[in-house]
Amino acid sequence: MRKITKAIFPAAGMGTRFLPATKANPKEMLPIVDKPLIQYAVEEAIAAGITELIFITGRTKSAITDHFDKAYELEAELEKKGKTSQLDIVRSIIPEGVTCLYIRQAESLGLGHAVLCAKPAVGDEPFAIILPDDLIDDGKRGVIKQMIDKYQQQGSSIVAVQDVPKEDTSKYGIVETGIMNDASLFKIKDIVEKPAPEKALSTLGVVGRYVLSPAIFNCLEKTPKGAGNEIQLTDAISLLLKTESVYALAFEGTRYDCGSKIGYMMASVKYALDDNEIGSDFRKYLNTLI
Ligand code: UTP
Repeated sequence: MRKITKAIFPAAGMGTRFLPATKANPKEMLPIVDKPLIQYAVEEAIAAGITELIFITGRTKSAITDHFDKAYELEAELEKKGKTSQLDIVRSIIPEGVTCLYIRQAESLGLGHAVLCAKPAVGDEPFAIILPDDLIDDGKRGVIKQMIDKYQQQGSSIVAVQDVPKEDTSKYGIVETGIMNDASLFKIKDIVEKPAPEKALSTLGVVGRYVLSPAIFNCLEKTPKGAGNEIQLTDAISLLLKTESVYALAFEGTRYDCGSKIGYMMASVKYALDDNEIGSDFRKYLNTLI
């Protein structure tokens, strides 16, 4: 089975749910405690053996490129002041042997269109997609590692799913599943983007992790605008189902929808409570509030 070495990080969305914070700053750079969301996504990819990081960016997103670039002045200053642990934090963001590539999506035409922008960089090999605003804590090496492992066994595309409240089906791609391969892996029969609760095929919603076959690019090229007048990745996966099997993995881990204010605050509180440096003081402070 072909090794998966490339991951796409779509980060060209407008982040309108976070305005005004996202007027000039990327949503993907919002920190959870002290690390930007997109760095959590990159760390998850690297832990899964990914060595080529493909970022889809746009206007107002230059902070992402700067974050993963070398910071000469900062490093020189930290070195001069003997701040070695901070220097190490700054230097180890991208380990040796891992490369970054940046592609601009000129218009926010949807997640499907953002992924299609990466076609020349991915070529004819399977690849991963990680949406930086979906933060998932599995206490181990990350969900994309779970998915790549399943891909190696299965040899077919895999999307991550979780059970969502019935009233929320219109916020997700929803899958109809057939045969269960094991306790957590299901063969997908059909997939629909953002169905109304009364039309939803199930309550299994797709979240921001995918391992896809390169055949998805041909499907994306044929996909017209769908929900929200955007080119939807879900609609392209629906086309892919006509020629290839696609599986849904009910992953292990807790997902925080950091594209929404409530999900972002939940993640911030949980990660702050778990933080070695501030966790116990933060807990004491929270106790004074409730
Ligand atoms: P979202 O729909 O959650 O992001 O897209 P958004 O459009 O930035 O957010 P709101 O709804 O306006 O608040 C999911 C992911 O896909 C990327 C986003 O950056 C995010 O990581 N995306 C979305 C693109 O890269 N390009 C697009 O055209 C749309």
